[in-house]
Amino acid sequence: MDFHLRLLMLLSVLVLASATHTNLPVLLFDEGYSQLFGDENLMILRDGKTVHISLDERTGAGFVSQDLYLHGFFSASIKLPADYTAGVVVAFYMSNGDIFERNHDELDFEFLGNIRGKEWRIQTNIYGNGSTSVGREERYGLWFDPSEDFHQYSILWTQNHIIFYVDDIPIREIQRTEAMGGDFPSKPMSLYATIWDGSNWATNGGRYRVNYKYAPYVAEFSDLILHGCAVDPIEKLPNCDTTSNNVLDSEKLTAGITSNQKSKMKNFRKKHLTYSYCYDQSRYRSPPSECVIDSHEADRLRGFDPVTFGGGQHRHGKRHHRNRASRGEATTSL
Ligand SMILES: *[C@@H]1O[C@H](CO)[C@@H](O)[C@H](O)[C@H]1NC(C)=O
Repeated sequence: MDFHLRLLMLLSVLVLASATHTNLPVLLFDEGYSQLFGDENLMILRDGKTVHISLDERTGAGFVSQDLYLHGFFSASIKLPADYTAGVVVAFYMSNGDIFERNHDELDFEFLGNIRGKEWRIQTNIYGNGSTSVGREERYGLWFDPSEDFHQYSILWTQNHIIFYVDDIPIREIQRTEAMGGDFPSKPMSLYATIWDGSNWATNGGRYRVNYKYAPYVAEFSDLILHGCAVDPIEKLPNCDTTSNNVLDSEKLTAGITSNQKSKMKNFRKKHLTYSYCYDQSRYRSPPSECVIDSHEADRLRGFDPVTFGGGQHRHGKRHHRNRASRGEATTSL
């Protein structure tokens, strides 16, 4: 191969590696996390870095970070259970719901299982200061089978930006607007990973339930990254000042959404976005202030479902106040 071409390929690999933040330190499970529930349905592998959480007829399982974090970069490589997984939910998320019961913040990746032959779907969502009456869900298909291999799922959270990544692709960016007020997560949160039975809503609105004939359902987590400003759980004060490297790093990472990454995000959304609250006219007559309307995304969604996404008859007077159990019920199915 031509030497220059090889050099060019090597360089682009290096650029990719930095874009996926792979230079950040990976924690041993015991260094950063504790088991949350599920007794022996959580298993730490011998390398100390990989953990399996599983769902069977007895229980699901989950783990939680030992610290709370105010802003940062949070990531895991995840391999989801294969074959029939309808009703199974794997969640990788940040929350402070156990501390702020009435005004919690939350940032979610939720993986919704499917019947055999149909692939997992991903959902992202955010809540700020208890904004649970305003769902900000988006759903996507993927360009790979997430049960076949590990892929990296990451959340970048800074004072003014939230970015969800799949591998090196930013799939969603939320820029804080003045009008969002407290709806933008602003209080320290813990990181969680859980697997549980979402039979009532996860797959076609509950039509397909978990079938325990196929249990245990095992989700594998590895390359756990907690790169943020840890907060003292008692005093609730950030343990790193704003001039420390951690915070500067994450601000840099935000600035790091290059035009190349923006165009990757656009391409991803053009192909794989299947639901966004920003276009759901049956829920919000005009899109919430932080929405950036993209005509390609609008066309795509309207093609799936003209009633929900406009261009057809509007459903009036049918506001969806989804509670925790039912939020995310698919209005469009793949
Ligand atoms: C968050 O909610 C609390 C309690 O409801 C309220 O006092 C506070 O002003 C809110 N903060 C923001 C930033 O909206």
